[in-house]
Amino acid sequence: MRHEENEILAHVGRGTPLGDTLRRYWHPVATSAELPHPDCDPLRTKVLGERLVAFRDSAGKVGVMNELCMHRGASLALGRVEDGGIRCLYHGWKFSVDGKILETPNLAEPRIRERLNAPAYPVRESGGVVWAYLGPAELEPPFRRFAFADAADENRVVLRINVKANFLPLWEGGADTSHVTMLHSNVARPSWALKDGMDGPIVTDLLNPAFDDTAPTLEIENTSFGFHYAGIRQIADTSPAKRNIRVVPIFMPYGRMIPFNDFFTTIFEVPRDEESTSTYLIDASFTQLPHDRAGRLKRSGLADSRFYEDNNFVASWENDFYQDRTAMRQRKNWTGFSGITQEDFVIATAMGVVPDRVNGEHLVPADMAIMRLRRRLLDSVELNQTGGTPLGLMYEDMTEMLARDFDLEGDRPWQDVVPHDSVLYKGSGNSR
Ligand code: FES
Ligand SMILES: [Fe+2]
Repeated sequence: MRHEENEILAHVGRGTPLGDTLRRYWHPVATSAELPHPDCDPLRTKVLGERLVAFRDSAGKVGVMNELCMHRGASLALGRVEDGGIRCLYHGWKFSVDGKILETPNLAEPRIRERLNAPAYPVRESGGVVWAYLGPAELEPPFRRFAFADAADENRVVLRINVKANFLPLWEGGADTSHVTMLHSNVARPSWALKDGMDGPIVTDLLNPAFDDTAPTLEIENTSFGFHYAGIRQIADTSPAKRNIRVVPIFMPYGRMIPFNDFFTTIFEVPRDEESTSTYLIDASFTQLPHDRAGRLKRSGLADSRFYEDNNFVASWENDFYQDRTAMRQRKNWTGFSGITQEDFVIATAMGVVPDRVNGEHLVPADMAIMRLRRRLLDSVELNQTGGTPLGLMYEDMTEMLARDFDLEGDRPWQDVVPHDSVLYKGSGNSR
C-alpha cells in the first residue's frame, strides 16, 4: 500500500478525503433502544469525529443535532427533553427535532428564531437503529433499507458496542475468512473444539468440518454495493468430494453480512473518530431467531461485565484483556478468550493505533479480500473527489444482498447459487 493511500484511510474528519466520502452515506448513530421512550434522557454520541446529541421528543420522533448548543456551546446532552423539543440548560434555548428554534428566553426579539436553524441532521429510524445523514443537504442519497429491517421486531437483536479501535481493522476482520479457523478455534474448528479434554464450545452451531481446512481459497467479485468473496474450503473425507462455500457481502462504506444456519448478521463498523468505533451488530431471521439478547451476549462473549458494560467494550491492556493463560497452557482454550465477538474486539483493540500498512504488513493470498476492501474504499474516495457517486450509495433497496453458506459437490461453480441478475450484484469497475 502506498503511503498516500494509507494516509487517506487514516482520517475520517470533516474536510479529509475519506471523511468527506463517508459523509455521503447515512450512518447508524444509536440503537432505538438507547432512546427508549418519548422525552427520555438525551444521548451523547459521536460519529466521524462529530459530537452529537440524539433525543426522542414528546411525539416519539428522534432528533440528532450537534451536541454543543448553537447559542454559546453548552452541551445539549445535559439538557431537558420536554414539550416537543430539547432545551439547553444554560439559557433555555429550545429546539425541535428538525432544527426549529422554538424558544430563546434571553432574547425577546423573535427574528433570530425565524432566520436561523439549529444544526439538526436528517434522521430515519429503521430496523431498531437510528440513522442520520451528516453530509451536504443537496447530496442527500436515498435511505438504504437492509434485509434485517424487514424481519419482525421479535426476530431481531440489535447490539451496539463502542470499541477503542480504528474502524478499518475491525472491518477488515470481517473480510478475513482465514482467521476464523484460528482465532475462533474454540467454537469453529472441530479438530480443536471437540478434542479430548475440552469442555466443549459455548455454542455448537458454528462448528463446521470445513473449518479444519486452514488455508481457504478466496474468489472475489466486485458488485454494486462493494464486493463479495467466496471463502472455499475442502471438506475432508467426503465422497464424492465436497467444498464448503461461504459467500460474504462486503458493502460500502463499512458493512458486511455473515451467514449462520438460522439467522444472518449485518454488521456496521461506524467510525466514532480515528481511534474508536461503534460496532452495530444486528442478528435477524425471517422465521424465528434462535436467541434473545441475553443469548446473543453469551454467544459473543459479552455477557461478562469485564468485557462489555453500558455498550462499551471495556477490556484493555490495563488488565491484559483478562486472558486466561492457565486454560491456554492446559490446552483447554485456544485464545484464553471466550466468544467470537470478544476475540475479534481483543485483536483490534490490542493493535493500538492504526497499523502501519506501508511497511508493517506482509499480505498473503488469504488476505486478498482485505486488499479488495481497501481498494474499493479508495475507489469510493476517488469517485467522490472527481464528482462521481461513491460505491453502493444510491440503492434504496439493499434487501437482496444476502450472505450464504453452503456445500457443493464436484466442480460446480458457486456462482450458480448466488444472484447475478439483480442490480445490486452487477459488477462495477471489475477491471480495477
Ligand atoms: S448555551 Fe445554550 S442556551 Fe445559551
Ligand atoms: Fe472474527
